Amino acid sequence: MSDSRRELSEPIASADQAASRGTGAAALPDKTLPRALRGMLALDDFEAPARRYIPRPIFGYVSGGAETNASLRGNRAAFDDLAFVPRALVNVRARTQKTALFGRTYDAPFGLAPMGGTAMAAYQGDLVLARAAAEANIPMILSGASLTPLERVREEGPSAWFQAYLPGETGPITALVERVARAGYDTLVLTVDVPVMANRENNVRSGYHTPLRPTLRLAWDGITRPRWLFGMFARTLLLHGMPHFENWGPRVPLLSRKGERQRGLRDQLSWSHVELMRRLWTGRLVLKGILDKNDAKIARESGADGIIVSNHGGRQLDGAVAPLRVLPGIVSQAGGMTVMMDSGIRRGTDVLKALALGAHFVFVGRPFLYAAAIAGEAGVRHAIKLLRDEIDRDMALLGITTLAEMRRERLMDARNFNGFGRGGRSP
Ligand code: GLV
Repeated sequence: MSDSRRELSEPIASADQAASRGTGAAALPDKTLPRALRGMLALDDFEAPARRYIPRPIFGYVSGGAETNASLRGNRAAFDDLAFVPRALVNVRARTQKTALFGRTYDAPFGLAPMGGTAMAAYQGDLVLARAAAEANIPMILSGASLTPLERVREEGPSAWFQAYLPGETGPITALVERVARAGYDTLVLTVDVPVMANRENNVRSGYHTPLRPTLRLAWDGITRPRWLFGMFARTLLLHGMPHFENWGPRVPLLSRKGERQRGLRDQLSWSHVELMRRLWTGRLVLKGILDKNDAKIARESGADGIIVSNHGGRQLDGAVAPLRVLPGIVSQAGGMTVMMDSGIRRGTDVLKALALGAHFVFVGRPFLYAAAIAGEAGVRHAIKLLRDEIDRDMALLGITTLAEMRRERLMDARNFNGFGRGGRSP
């Protein structure tokens, strides 16, 4: 157990408790919610309405993985291989899910993962996520592939972190680190699983390209999503002008006949650049996309404050292992470094399984983007509340009052059930 978890292991009767709780009253839709949200009872519920709202190529880009989607499916399957062993008759009245991370206490053990497509799917999407996260006192990570200047996002969402895509070149690294520091960020995340772009053949099939190409096909894709066309695209052009990719390399407009994103020498990025960043950046440095325990060890030795165990939501190397499966091995190499995880988390039970295997914190992506697209800030607030309520309810059902109690003994390997009571090995 890390120190920060231990810090919180005394039950705190708190504002946490005042927050609405899943105490069994979840049977009827909440009439106080906007109509679009009343049927949204779980994070997965946001996907179908988002598919109807967002033009096909953009939805395909956001929802898809790479090649055969093996990692995308594998991320979900990993959670099903674990089962809980709850304890009974524990007084769980004082349960809290507050989590200390990097010197700050968040109201939940999850944050919003970085997603570059947010502001092309949802009106002011990056700002919507940042504001909702700040209000809920959880972190939101702004993607380096986003369409909103990083300075603006941090102003409106003081709990935002910034995630960078960087080439292995000193000049761009130095310039970006200085810019992120000037904007007031305290946590910088470097994504390390993108030496080249993945084979996103789904994007080619659905007509997606960054930047978007103004073709007849794209026009048709927009016209067939009139709520997006007027409520998001036309509204954005009218009120804010053409969005640009703002946070890596030269600015490129979202819609461009010939423009290309400059990725630089990303395949040259290596540990020496992490060491350079460590020298330049005085805030928290996090590496995202680690799957090997040896890399976790090198990350620690290179001065990273934390890592996010991730296969990029199944969007990079198809067939890359589900982060949940390598988490225990990575935690064993982490020393004092904070280990976080993303990829495939959709339920409170998923969050708790990741924590039981040693993750200190987790991130969730796509469902929050879908929530922002279909219902803006209210949608994201609702999605955050759903996940928080699930965690709260699950903690009670498991018989725990703090997340520090979420240890491996609470789990068993459901694949190795041998028919004799609690036969499966603890993972
Ligand atoms: C960006 O991070 C992407 O996965 O497309």
